[in-house]
Amino acid sequence: MLRRAWTLVLGLTAAGLAASLALAQTPARPVYTPKPGYVTPPENSAGLYPVSGEPIFRSRCAGCHEPAVERAPDRRALAARSPEEVYDALTVGQMTPMAEGMTPAEIFGVVRYLTGKSPTPQTAQGPDPNRCAVSGPLKPDGPRWDGWGRDLENSRYQPKPGFAAADIPRLKVKWAFSYPGTKNSQATIFGDRVFVASLAGKVYALDAASGCVHWRYDFRGGARATMSLGRHPKAASGWALYVGDDRMVVRALDAGSGQELWTTQVHDHVVGRITGSPALYDNVLYVPLSASEESQGNVGSYGCCTFIGAVVAVDAISGRVLWKQAVLNETPKPTRKNAAGTQMYGPAGGAIWSAPTLDVKRGLLYVATGDSYTEIDHPTSDAVVAMDLKTGAIRWANQVLANDNFMSGTINGPLGERGPDYDFGSSPNLVTLPGGRQLAITGNKSSIVYAMDPATGKMVWETPKLGSGGASGGVEWSTATDGRIVYAPLADNPARGRPGLVALEAASGRVLWRVDAPKVEPCNVPSGQCRPGYSQAATAIPGAVFTGAQDGHLRAYAAADGKLLWDFDATVPRDTVNGVKGAPGGYLDMGGPTVAGGMMFLHSGYNGSAGASNLLLAFTVDGK
Ligand code: HEC
Repeated sequence: MLRRAWTLVLGLTAAGLAASLALAQTPARPVYTPKPGYVTPPENSAGLYPVSGEPIFRSRCAGCHEPAVERAPDRRALAARSPEEVYDALTVGQMTPMAEGMTPAEIFGVVRYLTGKSPTPQTAQGPDPNRCAVSGPLKPDGPRWDGWGRDLENSRYQPKPGFAAADIPRLKVKWAFSYPGTKNSQATIFGDRVFVASLAGKVYALDAASGCVHWRYDFRGGARATMSLGRHPKAASGWALYVGDDRMVVRALDAGSGQELWTTQVHDHVVGRITGSPALYDNVLYVPLSASEESQGNVGSYGCCTFIGAVVAVDAISGRVLWKQAVLNETPKPTRKNAAGTQMYGPAGGAIWSAPTLDVKRGLLYVATGDSYTEIDHPTSDAVVAMDLKTGAIRWANQVLANDNFMSGTINGPLGERGPDYDFGSSPNLVTLPGGRQLAITGNKSSIVYAMDPATGKMVWETPKLGSGGASGGVEWSTATDGRIVYAPLADNPARGRPGLVALEAASGRVLWRVDAPKVEPCNVPSGQCRPGYSQAATAIPGAVFTGAQDGHLRAYAAADGKLLWDFDATVPRDTVNGVKGAPGGYLDMGGPTVAGGMMFLHSGYNGSAGASNLLLAFTVDGK
């Protein structure tokens, strides 16, 4: 248990050059044909890039760029460019002849190798075919699902869904909207508007009733973190929409028009990103930081590993950084050389993949961290960490698994025994039990759910392993709770574990009921990446819980006994309100359905599993 108030340690900008992927992993072949203007980064199901850029650079580029000839920028100068600049140079710019015959995957691979980041392709910037005829004022008093967990406590529970559990079997798709993949934010509901963002560099404000586009904001970068809204004196609409992107940039947009209010680079690391949703309270945004160092740092010339998870508090009105706090007060130091002779660093890891949970009463926030990347002890990896809302000072940290030292591939991998990769990717639920006692409850990829005392971090209960867990198993993206029951979706691989949904008594951790995720045949996910696992975050309403599977099925179960209420195949192709015919859905992952005002919104497709564009599905009872 750690009680010192730590000072900030920034993850270093990686020494040397960054990363691509050397894994010999064969991705499932996509069966779709990308639509013009939509370019899907060639990721595989784990979000990794199947093509390593290093050999491509050696054979196709190094001859002129290392050492650099004539005016050619050297490799260091290329690394300083944005991934879009390098991508554009190869696809539409001066280097097009040098990239002749390269596949999109090879182009992504070499850009990733040089810059450490994925480019956002230049997509068609034309007008949306279904712009709204009128855009009235925002309706802040209307139905809302704001941010990741709907409330500061990240319950993921909607007490006023606008339909009853008994109505769930009658839910029908009212409209579908197609937008560029690959990963998307969970839908934010705000009155009569729905806000979604995508890693393809788009933020949309859609009309909840019809799916028409009030505005669209394009940027090269991309965002998958769920967005929140807050009052803003300089926004003409009175409200700002906050977007955290995959370059550690946070933007405030006028929620009424999409106009930029401010843009702040909150931190810098060559493979740093924001995946968890920034949490907003009292005009302060609490931004969690993660990085893809574990998967993308696996290249011999990359000085691994230098990223340490952190939270940045940002003034929501001005965009000014108020404080930064890493989960560990150490600067990664040089350790050993890898097999390629590159200097390695450590400790590193403890990325924060999920949204912070805010405890206004205690003046604390809680974040859950991922694994350690190196063999150097990282005492706040795989931990729940409490920070002071005002200063960021760490009040307590409870590590549930020490030495979970994990890295994809072997060249930069940790020495000694490799950890099982039991990250927390899930936000803690701050639960108030009947009687008033509070618990911070969260599960991780081990398939164990933990309940800690929010004041001290002391473990109150923990379940046995509910399944096998694994690198892509256990609880991936958040439990949900109505205060009495905690619903834990399990993403286990059926060959080794038990994918399904477990209902736990919040007070004790006792299993109330559990259901296994059925195997679906045929499975219609276009990419063919099909698994029954419940990886997506669960969403609860009175009397029922929704959970989405990686085979594209969304299911609702009765809160009382786990009885199946509804099974919906979200992969079925749809004609969309923005003019795409027969757009397929894909597998369900990360952000779960959001519910408010008699409507439910679900994104279908993740990692390009739906093809070049994903679907946003809007449901109402009987499709009315
Ligand atoms: C035959 C030599 C040669 C090869 C091969 C080559 N380049 Fe270049 N590259 C150059 C030169 C010369 C320039 C500078 C052009 C200028 O400034 O007029 C350049 C510029 C660039 C730029 C900057 C472009 C801009 O718009 O400023 C990028 C990015 C780049 N190269 C990437 C690559 C990559 C990636 C490869 C391998 C796929 C590659 N190059 C292969 C010679 C080469």
